[in-house]
Amino acid sequence: MRKRTIRIRFARATCQESERVLSTPLLIDTDMGIDDAAAVCLALANEAVDVRAIVGVGGNVDLEQAVTNIDRLLTALNPPAMPVIGRGMDQVAEGLVDRRSVLGKDGFGEVDLAASGLPVVGFREAYREAIESAGGELTVLAIGPLTNVATILRESPELARSIRRIYVMGGAVLGKGNIAGVAEFNFHRDPVAAAAVLASGLNITVSPLEVTSHVSLDESNVAHLAASGYRTGEVLARLLAFPIEHDAGPQRGKFQLHDAVAAAGVLWPSLFMRTRMRLEITTEGEHAGRSKPALGGDPNTQIDLLTAVNAGDLLENLLESLCHEAFVV
Ligand code: RIB
Ligand code: CA
Repeated sequence: MRKRTIRIRFARATCQESERVLSTPLLIDTDMGIDDAAAVCLALANEAVDVRAIVGVGGNVDLEQAVTNIDRLLTALNPPAMPVIGRGMDQVAEGLVDRRSVLGKDGFGEVDLAASGLPVVGFREAYREAIESAGGELTVLAIGPLTNVATILRESPELARSIRRIYVMGGAVLGKGNIAGVAEFNFHRDPVAAAAVLASGLNITVSPLEVTSHVSLDESNVAHLAASGYRTGEVLARLLAFPIEHDAGPQRGKFQLHDAVAAAGVLWPSLFMRTRMRLEITTEGEHAGRSKPALGGDPNTQIDLLTAVNAGDLLENLLESLCHEAFVV
């Protein structure tokens, strides 16, 4: 009983916090697969953040499919304040893997969600507008390969230094990776970009695979979302059907919400434990994208690494956010 009371108190505290705290302006950089969609739904359903822009990057699927999926999701959700959509970059290396085998040919569970041709701007314009209009308060949630972020950092370093904080889903630092058991997909897909961003000295929080893998949705959670009567829950339930039905691996019947956990790091930081360290990224060879703790070096290039998560409370907050936000107008 005591645990339940704490949870209710926490939930009220969160609501009170969000009422007290001005919305954090947010730009989401995403390779728009299904766990990316969960992160976007979570951000759009929470008044603590104000989603100013959603920028596509190649990764789970190619760049054009990622941008189309952003349009499909926003068309289905029709949020009160429509974020700017940006077209970023794709990675050009030979033989790169994507994640369509897990997510379906379109990266979105092959569901019937139509794009409506929402306007799209270049990612440089989307970043500049979001950073300048936020006056030094912009948070970037990077939940795909860091190709766009590294390009902005390289081409416009002063603009990039006006970003308040960058939350990254990526890396497998104190645990196994999902690429050959060593690297994590986002860092593997563009290891040079990952190395450049993580060594930049910007305020960065990394949500690595060994933390994000602790939060999954199962069939009963999906049924709860589908019956919620709210657009965020219903749309997400449709996207989740494919991976939950088709995953024959150890995660059968469950779907890991890597990117939604990174988004939760922005919304509910008290649910995580963290440490500070420098990361060393392998930038070539079969272990490209591998991320390991680096000893010594410039302390100004350390990042915050999340090391543990209260998965139960995070899942409860996530389901409450996705099922109780009245998008239905
Ligand atoms: O390794 C998991 C990450 O790679 C997630 O962001 C997933 O969406 C893919 O981009
Ligand atoms: Ca992603």
